[in-house]
Amino acid sequence: MDDTQIAGDLSRVLFTSEQIAERMAEVAAQIDADYRGKELLLVGVLNGAVMVMADLSRELTSHCRMDWMAISSYGSGTQSSGVVRILKDLNTDISGMHVLVVEDIIDTGLTLSYLIGNLMSRNPASLKVMTAFRKPEAARNAVDVAYVGFDIPSEFVVGYGLDYDGHYRNLTSVATLAPHIYS
Ligand code: XMP
Ligand code: MG
Repeated sequence: MDDTQIAGDLSRVLFTSEQIAERMAEVAAQIDADYRGKELLLVGVLNGAVMVMADLSRELTSHCRMDWMAISSYGSGTQSSGVVRILKDLNTDISGMHVLVVEDIIDTGLTLSYLIGNLMSRNPASLKVMTAFRKPEAARNAVDVAYVGFDIPSEFVVGYGLDYDGHYRNLTSVATLAPHIYS
């Protein structure tokens, strides 16, 4: 669904599907160049990274493998705590592999820090992170992210895999929600 079909739910469109597609192609070209001659394992973080994984992987011009993890972060309300539980682990033994974690959005980076520590203990040949969106808090916390689609303001956004109460993941653009949706 696109933003015109649910205009009443939305406050502001930050990125259209065309802008997202263009940026994902640019990031994929960078990844292609950086990993030339190496085989990459893309690790998507469920559920939010489904869209970015689908788009990014198909823009790559070399072979890659894909695997998925599902994690849940314990926290009070909408604050992430950095305490993470693995709901679904990888099917792949990543030791000796070049791993690129594919994320939807990084806010504080606490969830990601846990994930990186966990994956590093499995001895990959290399481990980097790509995220579609990044909020300012992550930049302040010096979270090491190799590839960023877009830096965005510290606002709650939906679409392109990102949800509010399970909805809006299938919105093709990325937008903020109208205040009446939260009440
Ligand atoms: P931290 O703070 O650990 O949190 O980097 C990252 C996770 O928080 C969720 N998150 C969002 N989800 N719209 C969403 O739909 C947002 O604007 C947003 N900001 C953070 C998301 O699950 C992410 O993985
Ligand atoms: Mg996520």
